[in-house]
Amino acid sequence: MMRRPLLAANWKMYKTLSEMESYVSAFLGLVSGITDRDIMLAPNYTCLGDMVSLLDGTHVVVAAQNVFYEEEGAFTGEISPLMLVDIGVGSVIIGHSERRHIFHEDDELINRKMKSAISHGLCPILCIGETLEERESGETTKVLARQLSRGLKGLRERDMKEIVVAYEPVWAIGTGRTATMDQIQEAHRVIRERIQDMAREDIAENLRILYGGSVKPVNVKEIMSLEDVDGALVGGASLEPESFAQIVRFEEN
Ligand code: PGA
Repeated sequence: MMRRPLLAANWKMYKTLSEMESYVSAFLGLVSGITDRDIMLAPNYTCLGDMVSLLDGTHVVVAAQNVFYEEEGAFTGEISPLMLVDIGVGSVIIGHSERRHIFHEDDELINRKMKSAISHGLCPILCIGETLEERESGETTKVLARQLSRGLKGLRERDMKEIVVAYEPVWAIGTGRTATMDQIQEAHRVIRERIQDMAREDIAENLRILYGGSVKPVNVKEIMSLEDVDGALVGGASLEPESFAQIVRFEEN
């Protein structure tokens, strides 16, 4: 089974509009002609609309970093799936560990966001991953299974075809500490098996599972060579166009 690689940049709370514009013009030049993989940029909310216009007609797609589950209403500070679709955004990151840990999002809220994103035609990237404490107490498999079953609760089989899962061990995010190749492959295999239990074998086979956590140009080739790794979700190393372009062209490193 050949799953199409997906290289996604999570800019988090970085970059002004003008910084976004200079990034995009440099980046497009660096990744022109690469059509055998999906390339995605997730900027902050104030850059989203302008980025959609700048990337219109290119092979680079835009994702949001978060979304609320209601379409509209008295929810100060939130952005709805309808609003993302309205400006031409096609994907959204849901349940990132910073959302879970800093903003206290739980699996139930994440599940509502997943269902709402799918029903609005957005492709959700569900982020899951264990903390250092959970890994050290041997609970990684249990934690991943729980985050998947709660985060994907109530999704129909056809919904499961629309999603992407990102495995991001919390202790490897922004720390410079990457998981070992064995740890990554093992976690990705566990995720695929769990999806197979929840849906069908072909859906699990087709599911793209990204790795995230200190991915850099120097380690991306080896990570991408793992059997169950289909892409990367990149924070720090995606903030410079040269560095993220090197990650996109992972086999050349
Ligand atoms: P990092 O972040 O690449 O800076 O570790 C990854 C992420 O949070 O998605």
